[in-house]
Amino acid sequence: MCGIAGYIGFRRADEVIISALKRLEYRGYDSWGVAVRHENEIRLIKRMGAIGDEKTYSVAEGNAGIGHTRWATHGKPSEINAHPHTDCSGKIAVVHNGIISNFQSLKEELESRGHVFSSETDTEVISHLIEEFYKGDLREAVEKTIGRLKGSYALVVMHAEKDELVAARYKSPLVLGVGDDELIIASDVPAILDYTSRVVYLEDGDLLVLMKGDFEIFSDGRKVNRKVETIPWSIEDAEKGGYEHFMLKEIHEIPRVIEDTLFEYLSDDIEIDISFAAGVSEVTFIACGTSYHASLIGKHLIEKLAGIPVRVEFASEFIYHQPPMHRTLAIAITQSGETADTLEAMRIAKKLGARTLAIVNVLGSTATRIADHVLYTRAGPEISVAATKSFIAQLIVLYLVALKLSGMTKSEMEGLLDELRIMPELVKGVLEHEDEIRAIAEKLSDYGNMMYIGRGIGVPIAMEGALKMKEISYIHAEAYPAGELKHGPFALLGERTPVIASLTPDETYEIMLGNIKEVKARESIVVAVTGHDDAEVEKYVDHVIRVPRTDALFTAVTHSVALQLLAYHTAKARGCEIDKPRNLAKSVTVE
Ligand code: F6R
Repeated sequence: MCGIAGYIGFRRADEVIISALKRLEYRGYDSWGVAVRHENEIRLIKRMGAIGDEKTYSVAEGNAGIGHTRWATHGKPSEINAHPHTDCSGKIAVVHNGIISNFQSLKEELESRGHVFSSETDTEVISHLIEEFYKGDLREAVEKTIGRLKGSYALVVMHAEKDELVAARYKSPLVLGVGDDELIIASDVPAILDYTSRVVYLEDGDLLVLMKGDFEIFSDGRKVNRKVETIPWSIEDAEKGGYEHFMLKEIHEIPRVIEDTLFEYLSDDIEIDISFAAGVSEVTFIACGTSYHASLIGKHLIEKLAGIPVRVEFASEFIYHQPPMHRTLAIAITQSGETADTLEAMRIAKKLGARTLAIVNVLGSTATRIADHVLYTRAGPEISVAATKSFIAQLIVLYLVALKLSGMTKSEMEGLLDELRIMPELVKGVLEHEDEIRAIAEKLSDYGNMMYIGRGIGVPIAMEGALKMKEISYIHAEAYPAGELKHGPFALLGERTPVIASLTPDETYEIMLGNIKEVKARESIVVAVTGHDDAEVEKYVDHVIRVPRTDALFTAVTHSVALQLLAYHTAKARGCEIDKPRNLAKSVTVE
């Protein structure tokens, strides 16, 4: 998730902007840049990597400027692709968050009229469009430009000839800080709090003009008033959006992450070119940890929907198997794109003749360079060590890949696609039950052991639920297919071992109730995760976590979000650190 900062006032703009960008570092970025208006010129710096010591940078003297931290989405991380982007004249500079979905056609159109592009980004079309529309009035040019854009944007624009910034927002956040004789615009509140705690949250469709000491907001061409609010938070609270931990913030971001990932690959139809998989007779997933659990769900989906046999390998173990893979599609799933075992397994799969596809969250990461084909999840940077939103984004891509591989016609898959489209709402329906989940978590927090069970797609859901619980709450949690309990794990059950059961609305439901009865006979407390419409379950269990009803295939999303919240609140009740669990790292770059 990129960060934006813009300043107009009485201080040196470069100093304010660089310190504001540092306040946005928690969002993650791979490169950054700043533009300042100086003597009717735009002065720019762009750099790769972290800002580091802000005192070592001086762009130019000037009291108006814009800056950006970039999390690459279109075009690899590089100085050229870093923002701000300028037009052909170098007089207009733009910073942008979001994705311009029609940038390719706009770029071709602009090139045909002689515009020369220097970057691979979608953003650069904005500066060139503004150049075409600019007739001395920047607001008018920006207004006309956004009329041509499809997708999402928060953007801030400046022109070399005037101390003025123009900003616009649609589906990407922007907030204005209102100080005494100074204004600062940013993608999030922490960038502002060093200067003022008075803010205006812009709404979708708003266009904002920032002048020295004053600002105006327009919506649908008409001037509007927006409330000035006072932020009661410290900078640290603000980084977490008011949530106590990044993990909780990231869980609450899931509806938006699903929207962004669907936006990338699903319009009228699934926009994934799967031609590289033509003729493959099997699929092998390679991954670690949570991404391994996403792979197990991918196996379930591909076998069920596409009828293609699927193997799932721990990347660290695949290294020792090395099966022939001439007609295999090897799918590596990795949030970071840097997990050493996954990278090594990908290299081996290629050597063995597999075609490779990587499902990755970090653009330009090593996995994207090894794989023949890449599909990006749009989770944005994940700060908490425990994967939450990135896991759900992986699942969304897997639903689309499985449906695409199935060869179903559009009308055959329409019912499932409709359900996928309402998934952000369904997840909001899970989040609405957070208070009930917290109450159950508090009851569980005194136990030292837990068992997670499921059947069918419920098994990987249980495995991921148990992993979340153990890594952040330090409670020993195991996951088993419910049918396996009687082959050993029953010996562990009893009143000190709660059992968390995932009940899915399919052929496994009745037999799961039977397994729960067996568990109750061993005196374990049972918590069931099940649909709102499940009228039976109360008779069998101690606590119920209700989630919106979906086709069983999609319970992987709804149940997993509920289990993420359960783990979070259990860990919180135990006073655990949560965002940085002991002994764990976000990116595991050693084998
Ligand atoms: C658990 C978790 C880890 C990662 C694993 C793989 O919450 O985050 O298990 O899933 O280390 O990481 P990536 O997906 O980056 O390859």
